[in-house]
Amino acid sequence: IVAFFQPKVLSGRKVVITAGPTFEALDPIRGITNHSSGKMGFAIARAAREAGADVAIVAGPVSVPTPRGVRRVDVKSARDMLAATQAEVPQADIFIAAAAVADWRPVTESDQKIKKDGSGSAPTVAFTENPDILATVAKGERARSGALFCVGFAAESHDLVKHAKAKRERKDIPLLVGNIGPLTFGQDDNQMLLVDAQGTTELPRASKIACARRLVAEIARRLPRT
Ligand code: CTP
Ligand code: CA
Repeated sequence: IVAFFQPKVLSGRKVVITAGPTFEALDPIRGITNHSSGKMGFAIARAAREAGADVAIVAGPVSVPTPRGVRRVDVKSARDMLAATQAEVPQADIFIAAAAVADWRPVTESDQKIKKDGSGSAPTVAFTENPDILATVAKGERARSGALFCVGFAAESHDLVKHAKAKRERKDIPLLVGNIGPLTFGQDDNQMLLVDAQGTTELPRASKIACARRLVAEIARRLPRT
């Protein structure tokens, strides 16, 4: 019902969104992940679809339903997520990186279950850095030419404004969204801090779908005219 009254501010636009955690395997049954629920990314996908966009969501392992009319590509690792995203963005107008991508992955993935050796000693896991999906897309030709509008999120536990401003500049993106308040993975509400070249704006605390609709409106008014 609500969707019916929404202005179709993204009609004719293609939006690609990453969402959820990634899973970095250690062996066939174990791996490293995080508490991202995917709810925020999926809410943005729904809001973008309501706004008339063609929406693809590249999702790590999550258990949230796919919004109606949204195309979903399921992935596990950060490297899979990068490959799936790169396949989608060449036709996109907007890229929103809402995923909580694992910053590191184990250097080796054992193809057999790692067994206890009976000595009581524990294995040591060596890590290597994952590709930065947002930074990679933002450095691409489509983003650099202004044809692809990139939006990032910042997960910070402290000094949000300082870190969010620095992160926007480091990733070289027009808009970054910080989550205000405690890290609330899995919650149904959210409060966003928008950071752009003009400065910062605190939005009111609201449900994730209300936040997502507001974010879509904020993105739409920053897009170059077609
Ligand atoms: N991101 C990404 N790929 C990564 C890491 C992060 O696409 N390998 C994206 C996230 O989806 C988010 C933004 O980059 O939109 C910022 O993620 P965040 O974890 O807050 O920042 P990092 O650059 O990873 O730095 P740190 O975790 O050290 O704060
Ligand atoms: Ca990170």
